[in-house]
Amino acid sequence: MKRTTYAEPYKIKMVEPLRNISRRERERLVKLAGYNTFQVKAEDVYIDLLTDSGTGAMSDRQWAGLMMGDESYSGSRNFYHLEAAVHQYYGYKYMVPTHQGRGAEHLIARLLIKPGMYVPGNMYFTSTRLHQELAGGVFEDVIIDEAHDPDSTFPFKGNVDLQKLENLINKVGAANIAYLSLATTVNMAGGQPISLENMKQVRKLTEQHNIRIIHDMARVAENAYMIQQLEPGYADKTVAAITKEICSLTDGAVMSGKKDALVNIGGMMAINDQGLYEEAKNLVVVYEGMHTYGGMAGRDMEAMAIGIAESVDEAHISSRVHQVHYLGAQLREAGIPIVNPVGTHGVYINAAAFLPHIPQVKFPAQALTVALYEEGGVRSVERGIVSAGRNKETGDHHYPSLELVRLAIPRRVYTLSHLDVVAETAINVFEKRYDVPGLEMVFEPKYMRFFQARFEQVVGEPQRMPG
Ligand code: F0G
Repeated sequence: MKRTTYAEPYKIKMVEPLRNISRRERERLVKLAGYNTFQVKAEDVYIDLLTDSGTGAMSDRQWAGLMMGDESYSGSRNFYHLEAAVHQYYGYKYMVPTHQGRGAEHLIARLLIKPGMYVPGNMYFTSTRLHQELAGGVFEDVIIDEAHDPDSTFPFKGNVDLQKLENLINKVGAANIAYLSLATTVNMAGGQPISLENMKQVRKLTEQHNIRIIHDMARVAENAYMIQQLEPGYADKTVAAITKEICSLTDGAVMSGKKDALVNIGGMMAINDQGLYEEAKNLVVVYEGMHTYGGMAGRDMEAMAIGIAESVDEAHISSRVHQVHYLGAQLREAGIPIVNPVGTHGVYINAAAFLPHIPQVKFPAQALTVALYEEGGVRSVERGIVSAGRNKETGDHHYPSLELVRLAIPRRVYTLSHLDVVAETAINVFEKRYDVPGLEMVFEPKYMRFFQARFEQVVGEPQRMPG
């Protein structure tokens, strides 16, 4: 039978009721929250697209796995299951569990970065760059220019610009490069994949200079799926096989298990070098926990082992990305400026184009997250100047070329009907966009300010576009 309709590849066994409060109530609450969606209580949110991290729904098998948790302090059976899953699906030789991705980032940064060293990467991620900087490293963006252009429709905007990488190597010397931090997919660029062809070229160049590649693999299965869909020569390969091939081109990895691996908490660091593994094993004890649990409960390691297997299931991954693209298509058709192509874990609205009357220093993306919450109870996240933080040297803001709002879709949580409501909310705000006021930051924390910063609305300035 030829089918033109589409349905999620699961049925719902347990439901969690949603609460939808009034617009007036939301206006009051978001003001109390300092106009920061991270500070809003989850129960005051109707549809929560703040993040796809740790917010997924576990399968019945994962829940069953929780009951098989072995909470022994050392040598829990679940650790060996997780280790086996990492070998089987990713191929890395050694791994230590961590409480989540940034625990692994901390370990790798401490292990490989000496003060003053450079860490090139295909764009930055907030926690990743911070750990590099805290270890004394200097981040250098080597992603292709297309990634910084929300209108470029290049299919692999996560690719590394080989020329930029080579220029850096020539400028500072390979010995001063700690490692290449390579993300699959690139979150801050809009959830954009990297191609295997590019990865192979990058591998060739870094091998010539003896530079390690550390893989930020939170969303590796989604990247593998996009390769299967778009890269010539991969249409007949399984997502599982492509995932393993990606990993084989790198020397180690940091992983947040809270994304593709479908757990609410957990992560791991992997490495192929035995000497570095011994060091990591020792360091994890200091910062996370014994190397056979590293900050995770036995039951959570079991759920992650099962989640890793489910993440590369073809029906799961195609449905997951379909949901994201379904929402993206609705926004695009309504004329809302979004990052193209639509990525794999969320739809990114180009807030600079959506709110052209708000200059970047008045935080247009942050202002748009507020408007979406007030309008429809939809929670999103700022990925622009607030997230980018300050330049350590000058003390001024970083001024990222992308001023975005991310609508991140949790895995297996919402149906297409929820996404219709999200689209309607965004369209309603778009119709009255010139009424959305800019913001002033009135409290700024030192690290990762976007989580806890507080804002006030800019009143008294003309908000409407002239004419
Ligand atoms: N790397 C990438 C690409 C990420 O997206 C994240 C988390 C991390 C590392 C850190 O992992 O949260 O488990 O410590 N991203 C979340 C997000 C927070 O909302 O995109 P973590």
